[in-house]
Amino acid sequence: MNVSYEVTDHIAVISINRPEALNALNIDVLTELEQLLSKADNDNDVYVLIITGIGKAFVAGADIQQMQNLSPVEAKAFGEFGNLVFRKIETSAKPSIAAVNGYALGGGCELAMACDIRLAGTKAKFGQPEVGLGITPGFGGTQRMPRIVGLSKAKELIFTAETIGAEEALRIGLVSKVTADDELMNAAFELANKIAKNAQIAVRQSKAAINAGMQSDIVTGLAFEAQAFAACFSTEDQKDAMTAFVNKSKVSAFKNK
Ligand code: CAA
Repeated sequence: MNVSYEVTDHIAVISINRPEALNALNIDVLTELEQLLSKADNDNDVYVLIITGIGKAFVAGADIQQMQNLSPVEAKAFGEFGNLVFRKIETSAKPSIAAVNGYALGGGCELAMACDIRLAGTKAKFGQPEVGLGITPGFGGTQRMPRIVGLSKAKELIFTAETIGAEEALRIGLVSKVTADDELMNAAFELANKIAKNAQIAVRQSKAAINAGMQSDIVTGLAFEAQAFAACFSTEDQKDAMTAFVNKSKVSAFKNK
């Protein structure tokens, strides 16, 4: 097994576990990752996903040995498979956190960017080294990076193939927090727990509305939000929470219904 999976208190931790190759993404890793994402998606007990890496890397990229002799047709299929897997994270109803513990290069940076929120340990390193290997980013980097850090910085990072550290990643908005390395998983769990305590239907509707709006014009996005907002008024969570508020109390736990 190249990817491990553990659920505790509504939080699924997916760990890329191929440390001998710095967790490089080959077909086997991507296939296992896809299967575990389906498992998390289908498990009603899972509210939040944390994706991390075992060892000194988060993920050091797509597997260069495996890509070395690909034909253009094979490379297209490989890129499309990576995109399918990462899109599954992005479009999952459930929110995801990348806990970036080390190298997040190429496909690794792209994996982190497919997650909803990124946290980094101080040893994390980010970059898209592909043009130094004679290729473009292939698992969504040209599309997600400019959406996250803006055009100028994304083009600078992709065209130069330079690697940046955790503090620079924080400064440009690629990650939302930097922690001590041995605190990273605690910080990820703390954040996941804060999300897990809220009404999950509302969290999921919020994720869907943000994602829909970021890929469309504001009028379409606002229309999507209106639908999401309305849908929440058919839930018990909305009734319970608002009734509790009006009665100067709080719901102790959402039913997520
Ligand atoms: N693919 C395959 N194997 C990799 C790998 C990768 N992306 N990254 C590291 N490895 C392997 C190394 O070959 C090495 O294996 P051996 O022990 O069998 O020689 C092992 O992992 C340890 O790596 P290093 O000895 O190189 O470790 P280091 O600490 O000296 O260097 C590093 C670390 C700077 C991250 C370096 O490994 C490196 O530059 N890796 C490649 C990073 C990269 O270019 N990633 C982008 C890939 S292209 C891509 O991802 C395309 C896409 O968008 C889909």
